[in-house]
Amino acid sequence: MSANIWHPFTQHGLGEPIPEIVRAEGASLYTKDGREIIDAISSWWVQTHGHCHPRIVSAIQEQSAKLDQIIFAGWTHEPARQLAEGLSDFLPAGLDHIFFSDSGSTAVEVALKMALGFWHNRGHSRHRILVMDHSYHGDTIGAMSIGARGVFNNAYAPLLFDVNSIPFPQQGAEQDALDALEALCADLDNPPAALIVEPLILGAGGMKIYSPETLAEMHRICRVHDVLFIADEVMTGWGRTGTVFACEQAGITPDIMCMAKGLTGGVIPLAITAASAPIYDAHYSTDRAKTFFHSSSFTANPIACAAANANLQIWREEPVQQRIDHIIARHRDFARELEKHTNISMVRQCGTILAFEMIGAVTEDGEGNYMSALGPALLRFFAERNVLLRPLGNSIYIMPPYCITDDQLSTIYGVITEAIEYFRQPAG
Ligand SMILES: Cc1ncc(COP(=O)(O)O)c(C=O)c1O
Repeated sequence: MSANIWHPFTQHGLGEPIPEIVRAEGASLYTKDGREIIDAISSWWVQTHGHCHPRIVSAIQEQSAKLDQIIFAGWTHEPARQLAEGLSDFLPAGLDHIFFSDSGSTAVEVALKMALGFWHNRGHSRHRILVMDHSYHGDTIGAMSIGARGVFNNAYAPLLFDVNSIPFPQQGAEQDALDALEALCADLDNPPAALIVEPLILGAGGMKIYSPETLAEMHRICRVHDVLFIADEVMTGWGRTGTVFACEQAGITPDIMCMAKGLTGGVIPLAITAASAPIYDAHYSTDRAKTFFHSSSFTANPIACAAANANLQIWREEPVQQRIDHIIARHRDFARELEKHTNISMVRQCGTILAFEMIGAVTEDGEGNYMSALGPALLRFFAERNVLLRPLGNSIYIMPPYCITDDQLSTIYGVITEAIEYFRQPAG
């Protein structure tokens, strides 16, 4: 018997068909059996400018013929240098130290290690991490430890380290924001090493939105109390929330920022953990024991860095912000239409991300639950209509690549409207 592929977040026992994609261009995916599918979730939130953008493709081709891979411990190369320099045009001022890794999860692991290393190398014993309820930061053990607990990580619970959490400061619910800030303040008597947040919107936690003002206030409180502030911009970074980074909207510079997904335009894996001078300085020494001990084999792979440099060029030279603003305006109009339906709730938008909850639909084990039967039913419904949407339980969201056309957006909106009507009906 030949080996089988074991897909991520896929219960093979359910026997759902797994379509094969053979080609992609812009916001379109093409299946082996000849269908064209609209990629309404940017292939798991990574694609920004669209599939197979010619500039990124040729950057990868050129770089792979020149320098494919080189150890990054004690060696360097031009694409990494160019990327580190170029990022200063995009990052909040003060995040000058660029550490490479390979995925969002590793960028987060690196951030945690930097924060603990910062305190350790300065002679303090601070290990506690403060998190926000419902957060998601990745699937490695450290990243799971600081994320919401549940069905995704029950099996590994004994291995996960303890963290303290503050309530989610739901946008529009003033009391929730006050509760979150109060909980943050209450936790500072014995100060944690760091607070880590997904700025403005929690992704896998259900596209939950909170305000820039609350983000700014959390940052201010951490500053005053000497608690490191880590922004996980893995999902929010590179334009999703309407600005290049979500932190911009709160006018803050975190001590540490994580990015991945859209860094290469969403084409090949590369991640960065950007740190401020004090974090770097705490590891800078003639004492080798203070070295930042983290690496992976492909750290700062030159081909991935070349793709990221092409991404930066696209941001500089193409009307990316205009494309984003257009999606924002289209979403806003559709959100008004959505408000008219009585079987959905919590219509919300954060930049290019539009989300809402299905209510009153038939589910096996409760609404608003990721494991509800509605999620797979919706997934199937959309796939049958050639749209790639992957609801988080009862939460339906759109997160398109910025090159998406008006017609493609209209098709997505149409299919969603059809789903709202269809799932209003009782089962059977
Ligand atoms: C906010 C956030 N952090 C971290 C991650 C993990 O990134 P990766 O899947 O690249 O490991 C994700 C993935 O969706 C994410 O949304």
